[in-house]
Amino acid sequence: MKKPLVLIGGGGHCKSCIDVIRMGVEFEPVGIVEHAGFEMNAEPVRISGVPVIGTDDQLKEIIHQFPDFLITVGQIKTPAARITLFNTIRALGGHFPVVISPLAHVARGVTIREGTIIMHYALVNTEAVIGQNCIINTGALIEHESSVGDFVHISTNAIVNGQCIVGDRTLIGSGTVLANNVSVAPDSLVSAGSVVLKSLNRPGTYIGNPLRKIR
Ligand SMILES: CC(C)(COP(=O)(O)OP(=O)(O)OC[C@H]1O[C@@H](n2cnc3c(N)ncnc32)[C@H](O)[C@@H]1OP(=O)(O)O)[C@@H](O)C(=O)NCCC(=O)NCCS
Repeated sequence: MKKPLVLIGGGGHCKSCIDVIRMGVEFEPVGIVEHAGFEMNAEPVRISGVPVIGTDDQLKEIIHQFPDFLITVGQIKTPAARITLFNTIRALGGHFPVVISPLAHVARGVTIREGTIIMHYALVNTEAVIGQNCIINTGALIEHESSVGDFVHISTNAIVNGQCIVGDRTLIGSGTVLANNVSVAPDSLVSAGSVVLKSLNRPGTYIGNPLRKIR
């Protein structure tokens, strides 16, 4: 029998996560928790068929009923919401399983920490390490022995080549390529479509090919 999984945040990323979860055999998305202030009606709002069962201020009660959670708030400019929600739910006793699409490939010897989702057609190659509460988005490639920190979003079709290090709380934008053996400093934003040939040792916002630091 599938285990119930509660999703936190009902936006676009949540819809993609629901498809990943439903294709697997392990979990059933039973409800979505929305931000405080979201208007709850007698007839629950449904997102991709999954009902909104409460708001952030009801998390304590929801955890009593369902212990397993996935943060489905997206992450572009800041990971702050995903970090706060993760820490709050963990402090209240909630658990964060790893969710892996059956269409993804995760090689032997890979480590994936709690709360991370590996989405359709992603490939995580041998001896890679992925931190907690990360999004490894559709079609992303994490090559051998790379290390991805906590609260990182590797966006759609991004390529992290072998032996790279991606620091905590970083976004690697859609279609971006990291050459092998480069590091990206924690708290960085690397824009969609960038090419990173050398390590980025300072946090900031990096854009394009050739790459430039804009902030
Ligand atoms: C990194 C990012 C968040 C920065 O966004 P931002 O802070 O709003 O930056 P702006 O849009 O103001 O852009 C700043 C400058 O960089 C340029 N720029 C933005 N994105 C660029 C890109 N991908 N390539 C080249 N230049 C880019 C803008 O034209 C602008 O130039 P200007 O100052 O000469 O006008 C954004 O560029 C990005 O990549 N978002 C992620 C997209 C993505 O991967 N989504 C996937 C969702 S699953």
